[in-house]
Amino acid sequence: MVQRGLYQPGARPQNPAALHFRPGKVHTLGGAVFSKRGVMVVKIEPFGVEQWMGRWETLAVNNIAETCVDSLVLYDLLEMSGRKEDIIVDLLGTRMTYGDIRGSERLRGLIAGLYEGGDPERVLVMNGGSAANFLALFTLVEPGDRVISVWPTYQQLTSIPEAFGAEVKILPLRPENGWLPDPDELRGMARGGVDLVCLNNPNNPTGSLMDRGLLEEIALIAREKGAWVLCDEAYRGLNHEEGAPATSITEVYERGISTGSFSKVFSLAGLRSGWMTGPAEFIEEAFSRRDYTTVSCGPLVDALSVVALENRGGIMERNLGIIRESLAVLEEWIDAHPRFHWVKPRAGTTAFPGYDYDMPSDEFCVDLLGGTGTFLLPGSCFGIDKRLRVGYAYGTEVLRRGLASLSEWLESRFPN
Ligand SMILES: Cc1ncc(COP(=O)(O)O)c(C=O)c1O
Repeated sequence: MVQRGLYQPGARPQNPAALHFRPGKVHTLGGAVFSKRGVMVVKIEPFGVEQWMGRWETLAVNNIAETCVDSLVLYDLLEMSGRKEDIIVDLLGTRMTYGDIRGSERLRGLIAGLYEGGDPERVLVMNGGSAANFLALFTLVEPGDRVISVWPTYQQLTSIPEAFGAEVKILPLRPENGWLPDPDELRGMARGGVDLVCLNNPNNPTGSLMDRGLLEEIALIAREKGAWVLCDEAYRGLNHEEGAPATSITEVYERGISTGSFSKVFSLAGLRSGWMTGPAEFIEEAFSRRDYTTVSCGPLVDALSVVALENRGGIMERNLGIIRESLAVLEEWIDAHPRFHWVKPRAGTTAFPGYDYDMPSDEFCVDLLGGTGTFLLPGSCFGIDKRLRVGYAYGTEVLRRGLASLSEWLESRFPN
């Protein structure tokens, strides 16, 4: 039996789309529950976005809520490599041991190559960016820690620290600020001290991109306070502007930690591969905790991750082409629909437009899905209503079809 502390089960909405986060409000130890002996029992908020996707996605005919760039078929990845037969023979001959526990040297070397000053010794391979985020937070956060996280973002960055008993303050991203964090606001929030700052760059859902200058400003504040900065960089490199640099937090801050993923940038979500990199002391502590969660990612994931990175140029060319073409389609649609407004994304695969119809976003999305088969994600999953997250990079054709059916539905649903 647990004794109820600040945690109030009744306060949690049953509807996964109706959210608990209110930007600008302080989240205290509200997620923590204590046993009779005073030991903290981890309770965690439902993951709004993932629950929405899990509940509705299978009904989608036109899925324009997906965040990956059009997923690759394994065959195509191997074709792209020009070594398909050799790779298949190698895979079939793989002895199914745990493989290299940290990730093979080859893989860690290739991942390190994605960072200025990257070092294979400071890379840990993980089963996806989500596992990397979890392990990073499991390593960094202790009860009573002061965490500041941007919002909206991937909910792991707020709900996990909260579940571990941290006091989580929200640094709101606002459309009028291009969905970017305001360093002055961060400085003010950090005045009383901060242990960890959580960022997500490029940002899901808004598609905003923090450049080097802004990351340096944030690093300066964190340095003054002796705080870690964890930056979820799952979409790093998917910049819309040609040649735009994709700075990592690890390149500007000595206590910066980057998590990465093969799901979005490499279109290989089914591989369940990702990584983390950061300072040696952090990686060593994370590695020791990883024994309890992951042990290793296995030789097949390792080998295919190597193939992906060795063919990064081709995959990036394909994916940037898809993203830029799709964004142009979405922009045209937004321009033609004056009751929609947005901050045009600069990177990643998602946009977060708002609308001025008198309908809550979860009702909007359920009604649209039921009527047309077109699937969107409501802003309510982020606690921000009258907005929709559009995942526009899952194929230009599906995007065109989805947007056309959205237009028709809007005309019939809101005739005036
Ligand atoms: C910002 C962000 N981080 C991490 C993840 C998790 O990705 P993975 O498939 O690598 O676990 C996602 C997935 O949507 C994401 O959007």
